[in-house]
Amino acid sequence: MTPEKTFYITTPIYYVNDVPHLGHAYTTVAADTVARYRRLEGKKVFFLTGTDEHGQKVERAARQQGEAPQELADRVVERFKGLWQRLEISNDYFIRTTEAHHKGAVQHFFNQVYEKGDIYLGDYEDWYCTPCETFWTETQLVQGNCPDCGRSVEKLKEKSYFFRMSRYQEALLSFYAQNPHFVQPQARYNEIIRFVQGGLRDLSISRTSFRWGIPVPRDSQHVIYVWFDALANYISAAGYPEDPQQLESLWPANIHLIGKDILRFHAVYWPTFLMSAGLPLPHQIFSHGWWTVEGRKMSKSLQNVVDPNRLLDQYGVDPIRYYLLREVAFGLDGDFSHSTLIHRVNSDLANDLGNLLSRTLSMAHRYSQGQVPPGYPASGCPAAEVSEPLRAAAERALNEVRRSMEELAFHKALAGIWELVGAANKFIDEKAPWNLAKDPEQRDRLDGVLYSTLEALRQTATLLSPFLPGIARQMEEQLGIHPGDGERPTLGEATRWGGMKAGKALGKPEPLFPRLTAERIAEIRSSFRIED
Ligand code: MSP
Repeated sequence: MTPEKTFYITTPIYYVNDVPHLGHAYTTVAADTVARYRRLEGKKVFFLTGTDEHGQKVERAARQQGEAPQELADRVVERFKGLWQRLEISNDYFIRTTEAHHKGAVQHFFNQVYEKGDIYLGDYEDWYCTPCETFWTETQLVQGNCPDCGRSVEKLKEKSYFFRMSRYQEALLSFYAQNPHFVQPQARYNEIIRFVQGGLRDLSISRTSFRWGIPVPRDSQHVIYVWFDALANYISAAGYPEDPQQLESLWPANIHLIGKDILRFHAVYWPTFLMSAGLPLPHQIFSHGWWTVEGRKMSKSLQNVVDPNRLLDQYGVDPIRYYLLREVAFGLDGDFSHSTLIHRVNSDLANDLGNLLSRTLSMAHRYSQGQVPPGYPASGCPAAEVSEPLRAAAERALNEVRRSMEELAFHKALAGIWELVGAANKFIDEKAPWNLAKDPEQRDRLDGVLYSTLEALRQTATLLSPFLPGIARQMEEQLGIHPGDGERPTLGEATRWGGMKAGKALGKPEPLFPRLTAERIAEIRSSFRIED
């Protein structure tokens, strides 16, 4: 019997020439949510992230800061790792392209492609900016000048190794045709097909104009092109080449999550490298949109780059995760603004979810001595009245989460969970336990109503756990259940109605999300120097 294939999901590996920003946090939180969701389903998961540490950008950034590229990488990598910890990212491995193992894997990969006859030495000719020591293509130039420094460029030639990408045009097109879900969303898939139909040129995969990279085997004048090096991280972290067994259990990856700007590298270059090396292709490349900030492109020159650490300081981790996943449809562009973030926190988190938990728990403490009351059928109250409405709402939420997670529609999954939260709030309003409590004859009904609401909350916590792991834990603590991250029952088990055990002690009610008051909002605005 072949062992069960592990669900393998990746983020891009981030350049270390700059510190992490909102865009990096976005991809990583999304990938983390998928990884947690698949684990909750009971699957074995391998979730990979890491850093892209070679290439001219990194070499240049290091020079500007007066340090060696490795020193820069060692310093900046800690910023990424620290941020992932704060964002509760549950990656199984963190790859750095300067690791000895990765370097060996890339050279091995290069050799495999070389032996296939797909690499040759030729002349690379393009527009060169001498002060920046960078080649640019015609289309990258800005008014004929260097897009980085604005100075003039000249046509220059250097020796380079080329990959025969042109050979793979037909094979790639037929692969796309056979795998209509290879690139998501659909509009991006169509763009990629059009691009490849337009013709594939051979690709320059080595450079001699700088040193910071992995040497080409047998020709150390050249370093390997940073994208050839970086893309190979997805297999080198999976055991390529020395551990074929591990590689087989992980590769091909189920999903490469990336931003739309790097789709061509993933959906065109990467598959052709793999075809040449005789390795299977990943199942899916999912490309998400870009965030603008308060309506403008995020850029250093506009000084509006959003530092996720500062957001975490002001709002905390779960509100940020919630906002990123709920505010825009994954795949589309979105606009970050403090006002929409504050609105989400106050309305969805504090009002809807926070209130539901605190009012339910305080009633259970008041009317049921802080214990889970008997539910249906023990309470003797008809199911149609006390458990059916919320049981059905919980089932609908589960189905919506399942459906939406297949297409990475995080916003829809969360909206589905909020339908359940809304149904539970409405249920309490309608059943008015405070009135039932006045009449001893209504004891059964009161128990049944409280039980169902507690059970709906338990299921809400389970459904939320991939998205908001911290909140799920806090909710479970207050509900008196402690599944612990590792031994959590699977999604199917945890969403069977009736998991709350009558007689069990509930925890202490604590506010989940304090509402952001006018005073706090003013503080936040001044800390981000937002003018009215
Ligand atoms: N090192 C390459 C990836 C190599 S993967 C084999 C790289 N790194 S990056 O650090 O520049 O960018 C990483 C990711 O951040 C990309 O997926 C990119 O789309 C994403 N984002 C950068 N700015 C962004 C926004 N403003 N909004 C959303 N995501 C953005 O590219």
